[in-house]
Amino acid sequence: MTWRVIHKEETISTNLDARLGSAWDVFTADFQTAGRGRLDHKWLSRKGENLMMSAVIDVSDIASDLIATFPLVVGLSVSEALGRFLPSSVQARIKWPNDVLVEGRKIAGILCELHAGKIIAGIGVNVLQTEFPSEISSRATSLSLLLARNSCIKNPSVTEVRDIVLEHIAANWSVWRKDGFAALLPRISVLDCLKGREVSVLRTDDDASAVVGLCDGIAQDGSLIVAGERIYAGEARQSRPIT
Ligand code: BTN
Repeated sequence: MTWRVIHKEETISTNLDARLGSAWDVFTADFQTAGRGRLDHKWLSRKGENLMMSAVIDVSDIASDLIATFPLVVGLSVSEALGRFLPSSVQARIKWPNDVLVEGRKIAGILCELHAGKIIAGIGVNVLQTEFPSEISSRATSLSLLLARNSCIKNPSVTEVRDIVLEHIAANWSVWRKDGFAALLPRISVLDCLKGREVSVLRTDDDASAVVGLCDGIAQDGSLIVAGERIYAGEARQSRPIT
């Protein structure tokens, strides 16, 4: 399969544009007027500096329990793609369920939505932005900031990052569809930044209770195991920064 990229200079949200798309369409924009994150957060991104895209994935023949694991497949794809641009000493890591962090700071966010039998995989990657709003500046990073700190002179373009991320999604989608999530789990676990740490997870899959304890990583059904409990949806927090 090949991706078909549909680009706009400005849009409300590429995840909204993607609702009208077909499988393997990718909607991108230089700027979103109402970019959305998980849990009703806003996704703020400076014009033309970052990757904002929504890929449409056909999952009509895939069981719903497997579909639930797809955001982690996207997280793996983005982490591995970013690894192609970063020096080997700097690792992009997956923070369950939907973030990609480098050195404890968020470089990418993922918002997967199910619409009309398709997954809309919305992905925001900080590529060239070097200044962030004060409320997130201590928690955000970008490829440009990381490369500059590691004395790398040349930044990739937003389009180069887009193409490498899409290449990884397509490759990982094939494995996931044929062999299931378990086939990708060892690669996800290696990049899992919560595994082996004391974490606090605010559950959103039940009564918004917090589960605190040792994280044993991600299970074969995509849930996070904390203090022996399986958590299917939530927001992981930590008392100490995640590295
Ligand atoms: C998160 O971290 O909460 C998820 C952020 C997802 C942002 C991307 S940018 C492209 C796509 N369009 C949106 O409105 N959101 C996603």
